[in-house]
Amino acid sequence: MELFRRRTRRPTLDLDDIQATVLRARPEPYFGTHAIIEITDQAAGRQLLRRLAPLVSSAARWDEPRSSWMALAISYAGLVALGVPQDSLESFPANFRAGMAARADRLRDTGPNAPQHWEAPWGSGRAHLAVSVYADNEDDWRGTMAGYERQLQDLAGVRLLSHQDFGATGFNVFGYRDGFSQPVVEGSGAEPLPGDGRPIKAGEFVLGYPSETGQPLPMPTPDVLGRNGTYVVFRKYHSHVATFNRYLRDNASTEEDRELLAAKLVGRWRSGAPLALTPEQDDPAVGADPRRINDFDYTDDPRGLRTPLGSHIRRMNPRSTKLETLSDVNIRRIIRRSTSFGEPVVPTVLTADGADRGLDFIALGARAIDNVEFLQSEWVNSGNFVGLGKEKDPMISLQDKGAYFTVPGSPPRRVHGIQSFNTLRGGEYLFMPSLSAIHWLAG
Ligand code: HEM
Repeated sequence: MELFRRRTRRPTLDLDDIQATVLRARPEPYFGTHAIIEITDQAAGRQLLRRLAPLVSSAARWDEPRSSWMALAISYAGLVALGVPQDSLESFPANFRAGMAARADRLRDTGPNAPQHWEAPWGSGRAHLAVSVYADNEDDWRGTMAGYERQLQDLAGVRLLSHQDFGATGFNVFGYRDGFSQPVVEGSGAEPLPGDGRPIKAGEFVLGYPSETGQPLPMPTPDVLGRNGTYVVFRKYHSHVATFNRYLRDNASTEEDRELLAAKLVGRWRSGAPLALTPEQDDPAVGADPRRINDFDYTDDPRGLRTPLGSHIRRMNPRSTKLETLSDVNIRRIIRRSTSFGEPVVPTVLTADGADRGLDFIALGARAIDNVEFLQSEWVNSGNFVGLGKEKDPMISLQDKGAYFTVPGSPPRRVHGIQSFNTLRGGEYLFMPSLSAIHWLAG
């Protein structure tokens, strides 16, 4: 299936100034790299931005397939290293300025997920610029990478700290199709597909436009720096697929049972088909159909008999679920541009091979930082909002000893032995400037 939405309405957003990644979906299959750069000299940092500015793609014609494109984002430490004036620095929100490591308590990044266990350069304060190249084929990926690497080569005063390649067919390392349930941004021109719901106000995703409250959200100053920009939350997860496979095997007697449990944990079959539409068995045709894959809410399943209340997608986007704690789900939406790295593991492999594999979770939005902090503390690491007490998200939480996952039914089934299937290896809060802001930052 192709992930591209169609643009059938006249866009009202300043697409020429907004970065492509905000609106352009990841291709299937996809290839790419996330590079992390440190700026040790302000003039060199600005020079690098001048060189990269023409390579960063805009969201103009975001709906047309492109063979490759580049995105750029900057951490608070990066803005400081670039010599951004103090009054501008102070106009950024406190959690962005603190950085992800300092927000570990709020994010519930404790135990093995805590910043002291992170990989370099995460949490060191040296991750200043993040440059990402996305491509739909290997040749264009390598070509775009070579173009960007040339800009770095002869510049003393900027240093490449890490370089992580990614890529997948569209299925993540656990074997689930991902990346396709996304909010529709009002004013982007996107045609909503069945189940998308109403378009969400642009100001929820791009700074400078009215948000769901009717007002634009606070924006960094000056105007040229803030307008048409957005925030990015980057979190690198290492995936324990063999542990996940053992959990499924230990709690299922047949292959069909195993796949049903795998679907109950996520709320979708591995093909992407939602349990809400195909509760008994997978239907890959639904998973491959952009008009059906998201065409559901949970109105007719209040108890979670089809899609468990605690499954990953129902927690992360409860749609019409009656929540026990008051929440406006429309301001909790995020645009996801996550990427998988490393080889997938098939369900029959039960022994870990020690290879590096996982998912770079990437969330974009004007409230992305607040929202991921909210999701992590309220909807991932607690079950109170849907009456599940201490039960946590089965895919992405840090599980305690004795943890279980509830599959509603008569009687409900508690599937014990659940473990942490993904460990956080690092991350950062970033600001994705508009194209004109990149020029402003470059001086
Ligand atoms: C290794 C980590 C993760 C894995 C393997 C994973 C896997 C998945 C899968 C398979 C889907 C369903 C398909 C799709 O729409 O993309 C999904 C959806 C989603 N995930 Fe994750 N995810 C991970 C981390 C996260 C994190 C950290 C968050 C937020 C804090 C998150 C939020 C979401 C949201 C909002 C959706 C869409 C739900 C919907 O609209 O129905 N995910 N994820």
